[in-house]
Amino acid sequence: MPALSPQAPPDRLTQHPSSPQDSATCDRHYKTLDTTLKRNHYQPDALIEVLHKAQESFGYLEDEVLLYIARQLKQPLSRVYGVASFYHLFSLKPSGIHNCVVCLGTACYVKGARQILDRLELELAIKVGETTSDGQISLLSARCLGACGLAPAAVFDGEVGGKLTAEDALARLQALTIND
Ligand code: FES
Repeated sequence: MPALSPQAPPDRLTQHPSSPQDSATCDRHYKTLDTTLKRNHYQPDALIEVLHKAQESFGYLEDEVLLYIARQLKQPLSRVYGVASFYHLFSLKPSGIHNCVVCLGTACYVKGARQILDRLELELAIKVGETTSDGQISLLSARCLGACGLAPAAVFDGEVGGKLTAEDALARLQALTIND
């Protein structure tokens, strides 16, 4: 595991009560999480696996879940938050109904992927890594989608789009949301 620099959790995390929500769905998610914790004997080394399971169950790592995991593994919240925020595969915010991953790998970059991403950020009024305020679209980036021959490329809800222009990308996003 790469070295992690200690990172303080945001204030909201240290100020919230640590009890889990009590809806039936939430209880089910916590039960799944408890099973993983038990299977790993509440060992701090199991943190990444536990975070994985939590994200799979809850969809993202909300504040209460991070607090719960810290308590169960008897780990400082700063460590749990630090690991969760270090790895890109973990999300601390709910993701949108649709997602768009713009490739910023070398082949795509030299063919204008950065300009496409800039335009999407402008039109959607969000930065990469964020979700639109209506919860419709999450905008992400990647370092190579394995489709360099199609550069510049992006993935729209799991479907690769190649040789894109900014207009193409916007049209693809529009088509995704229109079909809802
Ligand atoms: S660099 Fe973009 S798909 Fe490989």
